[in-house]
Amino acid sequence: MNKKPIAFFDSGIGGLTVFKKLKKLLPHENYIYFGDLKNIPYGEKSKEELIKIADRIFKFFEEKDVKAVVMACNTTSANTYDILKDKYKFKIYPIIQSCAKIITNKPLKKVGVFATEATIKSGVYSRELKKYNPALEVFEMSCPPWVGIVEGNTQNSPASVACVSSSLCKMLENSPEKIILGCTHYPYLLDILGKFLPKDKFIDPADYFAEFIKTDLAKQGMLNKGESGSEKFFVSANPEKFKQAASMFYPISELPQLVD
Ligand code: DGL
Repeated sequence: MNKKPIAFFDSGIGGLTVFKKLKKLLPHENYIYFGDLKNIPYGEKSKEELIKIADRIFKFFEEKDVKAVVMACNTTSANTYDILKDKYKFKIYPIIQSCAKIITNKPLKKVGVFATEATIKSGVYSRELKKYNPALEVFEMSCPPWVGIVEGNTQNSPASVACVSSSLCKMLENSPEKIILGCTHYPYLLDILGKFLPKDKFIDPADYFAEFIKTDLAKQGMLNKGESGSEKFFVSANPEKFKQAASMFYPISELPQLVD
């Protein structure tokens, strides 16, 4: 059981922000990562579409006989976890639901959330955060172009900087004490965001998520006791594009395998 892979998925390279952190904490695990470039962006999909997409990916992971699935994607965590969580035998870690309790450990009164349209529509960030801190004021804002900026690696173009700063200005009208980057693609934009505000104003849930997964796998006796780990990447479209986009953050040596 313990040698079985830990699977990750996201619409693209966003989930690598979580993958890289967990791999650092648990280098001796066997990992598989699925980047669903055929269906990107998830943020524009309906709940029904997202359930179908996630269910298909879970079936693929079932065939790969994984021991755990990391939903390194806020959009599918928000829209599909409640529906799919009891359908499969492997352990499932959804990013929002896993991190909300840890985020609310800080004594915060007002928090902002940047996320995709489908995540904001679901209301799951507010629901999960208020579960642990009912008095918390939560300001949620969608940033539709941001995923495309990251996948297209156009972070430094003047148009991208203007786009990111304009959402940030709007968010700051609410005076949040911290702003959650509620899409795993958004931490790639921290350098731009950091031009306008200190980086510690932003919360990247991946920082807590990786630690949470490690602790939980250890508690369940599911850690690989082997000496070496592995990683394998899969995509539903555009392997070259994935490899190229990943290279700025997590260079991968082989071209991801294309699966339908
Ligand atoms: N990175 C994903 C998330 O955390 C999905 C982004 C998208 O494809 O819209 O929500």
